Amino acid sequence: MEVRATTDPPLQTNADTVCLGLVEGEGVAHDVADGTLGALVESGEASARPRKVAVAHADGVRWLLVGLGARHELDAEAARVAAAVAETRARELGAQRLCWELPHHVDDAFAGGLVEGTLLSAYRFDRFKSSVDDDAPSRLEALVVSAHHDVGDPVGRAALVAAAANAARDLQNAPANEMTPTRLGERARELAEEVDGLSAEVDGREAIARGAMGAFGAVARGSDEDPALITLRYEPLGATGPVLGLVGKAVTFDTGGISIKPAAKMAEMKFDMSGGAAVLEAIGAIARLELPVRVVAVIGATENMPSGHAVKPGDIVRARNGITIEVNNTDAEGRLVLSDCLAWAVEQGAERIVDLATLTGAIVVALGSTHAGLFANDDAWAADVEAAARTSGELVWRLPLHAETAELIKGRYADIANATEVRKAGSITAAEFLKHFIGDVPWAHIDIAGTAWDLERPYARKGGAGFGVRLLVDLAQRVATGD
Ligand code: BES
Ligand code: MN
Ligand code: ZN
Repeated sequence: MEVRATTDPPLQTNADTVCLGLVEGEGVAHDVADGTLGALVESGEASARPRKVAVAHADGVRWLLVGLGARHELDAEAARVAAAVAETRARELGAQRLCWELPHHVDDAFAGGLVEGTLLSAYRFDRFKSSVDDDAPSRLEALVVSAHHDVGDPVGRAALVAAAANAARDLQNAPANEMTPTRLGERARELAEEVDGLSAEVDGREAIARGAMGAFGAVARGSDEDPALITLRYEPLGATGPVLGLVGKAVTFDTGGISIKPAAKMAEMKFDMSGGAAVLEAIGAIARLELPVRVVAVIGATENMPSGHAVKPGDIVRARNGITIEVNNTDAEGRLVLSDCLAWAVEQGAERIVDLATLTGAIVVALGSTHAGLFANDDAWAADVEAAARTSGELVWRLPLHAETAELIKGRYADIANATEVRKAGSITAAEFLKHFIGDVPWAHIDIAGTAWDLERPYARKGGAGFGVRLLVDLAQRVATGD
């Protein structure tokens, strides 16, 4: 979709459909000559109620009057939701060129939200469908944001970030027979080739063994697919702030291994690479935006399979930093992969780390799909992540780490165990496990098991949500500017 900003009024943009937001207690900002739009509001057909849309035809175009709610609630998330609702209706009506008239007195974030909401809502994953349904809705060709002042910058930025989120969704939605660790490595190389200042290194089974990454290696050994340790670096000239480390779990399929999962919903475990997908596309977006911050991204990609070579319950492995681990449950594989990746990120010079992982079913029980779980060893860094979550709409809720919870993962025969004997605080004990591998670097762990797919937001309902891309880009911006 072509996206641009203009200071021309909507009727001069060659859009076939114009979207207008309605704010509670305020009239239509610019009505058409015969007062059609105001009349629609007066009749009650159009209203400021969020998610409400009314349709009219006047001056040769279609008008969508979209409810935005109260003035004090006009934030970027309200814009995303309104834009998604409008995009859905516009497409049903056969619209091809959409123009959003930016409401008066909103900030740049709102303009960006309209673009993100439209692009995220327009996303489809249908490349495996042989034929398109005859009455399938049309596709939008263009989005124009019309405002009295120049909103080119926020509109351009939002279009770029939304495209990165949609690229992460493509990686997530692809089936595991296609989206192998090798394929993720290729995507990393592809990005490094396309984007200035970005480099990628992809290491396989041999290098993981040579690197003494016994925990990552233990997960990978059950699979015939070669694992990939993907390291990307973005090094803009002149950036002097702390090096940001992004770490992602990319288990391209999680069967559970020898501790195999039940058949019901196992197909969803193709999404177990969602953290890695978000990290990959986020560093791509950060580099394309030329944010003045050094970033190192580490993605641990592997399948988790049962086989004659698979790691067995009770096996003891040694992670790169020397810690020994009892693998009591081969389905708690994400923390094994991440342990070596976190230690690697620290060695690569990361000075602030955030990891994203579909780590525990327990976080889905605790928080559902509204918030991802946040864990951190540093309050200031946690606050930065929380701030980035609020602006991006990718919400997080912090849960506590505690020495008493850490006790639960003490090993019987080795230093630590990858699963607890009692079913207590499942997401927190997973975070306590990870904490052993980051030394004293400020670190935040985001458990996205409940938010990575089927988010049920108007702009991302089913399938991969690209969750984390927007948050990480926003966080990088904060690290870059030091606020
Ligand atoms: N990938 C899963 C977590 C998961 C479950 C994500 C459901 C999304 C939806 C992870 O590898 C896993 O299997 N975790 C186990 C850990 C347990 C064995 C300690 C879990 O949560 O059951
Ligand atoms: Mn698992
Ligand atoms: Zn997993």
